[in-house]
Amino acid sequence: MSPSRIAVFVSGTGRHLDNFARLTQAGELDCEIGLVLSNRIGVKALERAARFELETLVLDPERELDEDSFSRRAFEAVETARCQTVLLAGFLRRLALPEHWRGRVLNIHPALLPSFGGKGFYGDRVHAAVLERGCRVSGCTVHYVDEQYDHGPILVQKAVDVRPDDDVHSLAARVFEAELVAYPEALRAHLEK
Ligand code: GRF
Repeated sequence: MSPSRIAVFVSGTGRHLDNFARLTQAGELDCEIGLVLSNRIGVKALERAARFELETLVLDPERELDEDSFSRRAFEAVETARCQTVLLAGFLRRLALPEHWRGRVLNIHPALLPSFGGKGFYGDRVHAAVLERGCRVSGCTVHYVDEQYDHGPILVQKAVDVRPDDDVHSLAARVFEAELVAYPEALRAHLEK
């Protein structure tokens, strides 16, 4: 059977894209990346995609499309590329999920949902809020995407300690190390379903 094809949606740095590209090329994940979709021009994620010779599409960088039209075009592109799964990896635009894509779009969030999720909780803001609240643990969550931010069924979570001398950057780095393990693990679990 030919390997499952995945699409990776990015907006920025693309460290997860890099990780998935390495793992798929090394044969450590039983899938191939059929499309990298970015909603921004000139981001590092696109450079990484080029380095791995992956098919890319930049969609609506000027933000001319509304949420529905953007989403329709994005999923049309995914279907044209014959991808069966979508991974949101640092993707910062809201999507209207087509009904038939429910259960096939995954996201990673840098906290233990349902805490510190939802609108406005992205990037360093998440870690700042965790530190501000005095949490002793944080972590990451991979979940299926539904129509609400950071809300769908959870696939994998990894906890990390919050240390007394942590700042946003040290905590973000520790959480990200856990993310690099959690996201491939979640994808494997999804593909084996
Ligand atoms: C991670 O913190 C992840 O939890 C969030 O975006 C960040 C990764 O971005 N969703 P990238 O893969 O480096 O672009």
